[in-house]
Formats: sequence, structure tokens, C-alpha cells
Amino acid sequence: MRTLHVKTATADYPVYIGRNLLAQIPRNKAVAGRRAFVLTSPEIWALWGKNLLAAFSRNQQPTVLFLPAGERHKRLAQIERLASELAQAGADRSSLLIAFGGGIIGDLGGFLAAVYMRGIDYLQVPTTLLAQVDSSVGGKTGVNLASGKNLIGSFHHPRAVFADVDVLQTLPEHELRAGLFESIKAGIIRDAALFRYMEQNSASILARDSAALEHVIVASIRMKAGVVAIDERESGLRMILNYGHTLGHAIEAATGYRTLLHGEAIAWGMLAALQIALARRTVGPDQAERIEQTILAYGPLPPFRATPAQLLAAAGRDKKNRAGTRRFILPKGIGNAIVVEDATDAELNSAIRWMLARARMGR
Ligand SMILES: NC(=O)c1ccc[n+]([C@@H]2O[C@H](COP(=O)([O-])OP(=O)(O)OC[C@H]3O[C@@H](n4cnc5c(N)ncnc54)[C@H](O)[C@@H]3O)[C@@H](O)[C@H]2O)c1
Ligand SMILES: [Zn+2]
Repeated sequence: MRTLHVKTATADYPVYIGRNLLAQIPRNKAVAGRRAFVLTSPEIWALWGKNLLAAFSRNQQPTVLFLPAGERHKRLAQIERLASELAQAGADRSSLLIAFGGGIIGDLGGFLAAVYMRGIDYLQVPTTLLAQVDSSVGGKTGVNLASGKNLIGSFHHPRAVFADVDVLQTLPEHELRAGLFESIKAGIIRDAALFRYMEQNSASILARDSAALEHVIVASIRMKAGVVAIDERESGLRMILNYGHTLGHAIEAATGYRTLLHGEAIAWGMLAALQIALARRTVGPDQAERIEQTILAYGPLPPFRATPAQLLAAAGRDKKNRAGTRRFILPKGIGNAIVVEDATDAELNSAIRWMLARARMGR
């Protein structure tokens, strides 16, 4: 097991990464002796619930609450329902919530913990690779509105994160790959050694070799924790985490969030942004080739259809852009990234057309 620490102006908590971690949760000092409530989905509970329950003693069994799977349930209505269930079950300010699932459970569970009785403690126990390497770390929690994703939320850090590598064995293949794209992003923007590792070890990573996965997860979380430590509220450095996301979010919106997983859309967005980086010479042709080949090694990237006008309009709405300026993240070599404030519609258009020409067939 490896332990990393997230230290920000407002929080300081451990992130445990390794095998058979579910069994260690009840003994952790954030849990021992407290009334615990688990938020999970029926699917995850059927696969891994007994592993989590087995570790709790008979008189410390947690109360289990369920959220149905799917982004459409990441809504305020579920917060009200779950808060009522917590209240009815007697949860008080000293109770502990355990968010046990993918990024949806983690985001919604974290927000539930942020607002229930003005804030209770919670743990992140992420069960998707995306949640382990990205969403469980950094304290962003929230739910969606009809008008957009993650528009209601709060910063509320967990007391600890348990990233158990074993639970990834049951993850559907495309969900694994989608999470790996976020790890490639981590390497491109801030960790050249992680990028190289993923460039050279795609076979063992995709075969879910535990040691290889652990290596990738540890490096990805270390990268994110390092960025969040410097810029907790995304006023500067944290923006580089959005590499591939301006166009990735635009693809998700233009395809109604149905065609691609988030990580897959981000992979397309990274490839498109790479074209702008190449034209601006923030990456050289050899570096661009390595980045592209490494992303494609974790494919396939599913096809999608959209028009340039749709994507440009959706990119303009991306909440990461302040009015008037189109902010864009570009890789600078491998292992570094820059924020540019002056990306033009013409540049975006040409990157979008490059991407759409490939997206008809998938890659
Ligand atoms: N807070 C943040 O900083 C942040 C960052 C990135 C993404 N997010 C959010 O994360 C969410 C996406 O998270 P996700 O990609 O984990 O999706 P998800 O939570 O929908 O999980 C994906 C699917 O995998 C299933 N699953 C989960 N764990 C499994 C396991 N071990 N075995 C088998 N099946 C399993 C789930 O039931 C679900 O169907 C989005 O809502 C996004 O906005 C948040
Ligand atoms: Zn992302």
C-alpha cells in the first residue's frame, strides 16, 4: 500500500492506494467508533458490498443508502431524498458518510456530506479508475442542473481516500480506458515520467496488472494533489487539469452525453488541442507524434458526429472560459502545460475540423 497526502489551505488528508484496502476501512482512525453510512449504487454493492461489510464488526454495521447508476441521477432531487433518509436513520453531525462508487457517487456523496447538517465528515472510496485518479481527490463536489453539469456544488474535502486497485478488476473495459486517458493527461501536463511509463507499458496496464495500475494511480494522484495544494480553488495552476476539456466538454454537450464517456471525449479533445499546440510550436512534431500514439494505444476512440458550429458554440459556453476571452490549455513539450488566453476562433475551427474528419470513423 502507498500513502499520499493532500495538503491545501483548508484540508490535510491521506490517500491510500493499493490492494485489499476495503478491508482496512473500519480500522482507520476516521472511521473507528463512529456511526457510518455508505452511499453506493446497487451494481457496485452487488459486486463489492460484501467485501466492505465483512470488515465492519457485527455491532458497527453501516447503514446503506443507494443512488441509481447514471449521470441523470446526479441531481439535487437525490440530495433531498438522501438527506431525508439520513435524518430518518438518525444520522447526526458526528456521523460519517462513505461514498463508495464511481465519480457520480463521489461527487454527489461529497455534496451530500457538505450540506447535511451544514457539513459532516466523509470518505471517498472510488471504484472506477476515473474516480481514483481524478474525481476523488481535490474536494470538488456537486450535482448537475438541467442547464449544465456540476453547476451546483461546493468544495468539501474527504477525511481520507481509499483507492483499492482490486475493485478495478470488475470495471467494464471502456470505463477503464476512459480513466486511463485522464492519467495520460496527468503525464502530458505535469509528469513526463508518468507519460513515459504509460507510453511503454500499455499492455500490462490494459491487462490490469495490479502493480502497473498502482503505479499509474499513484503518479496520477500525486500530480493532482500537487496541483491542488498550490491552487485549491482553480484561480491559476489548477486550470491546466483542463487540458483536452474545453473541446471534450463541447463534444459531450454536442452529443448529448450519450455517445462517449467523459474520458473518451477528453481524449478527442486532447488530440485536437495538440494540433493547436503543434501550430503554435509549444510541442515539436516528434513530441506530438508520441502524445498521439500514446493516446491511441489506449483506444479505441469511439466515433461521433457533430458540426464545427455546434462544437464552437458549445466550447464558447464552457464554464471554464471567462466572458470575452477564450482560455485554452496547451501542452508545452511533454510533462508541462501552459494556459493561453488568446485562442482564436480560427485556431479552434481548424482543430475542430481536423478532429471531426477523424471522428466519423473513430480511431
Ligand atoms: N469532482 C471532480 O473533480 C471530478 C473530476 C472528474 C469527473 N468528475 C465526475 O465524475 C463523474 C464520472 O465518474 P465515473 O467515470 O467514475 O462514472 P460513474 O460514476 O458513472 O461510473 C461508471 C460506471 O461504472 C460502474 N462501476 C463503478 N465501479 C465499478 C466497478 N468497480 N466494477 C464494475 N462497475 C463499476 C458504475 O455503476 C457506472 O455504471 C461525472 O459526473 C463527472 O462530472 C468529477
Ligand atoms: Zn476530466
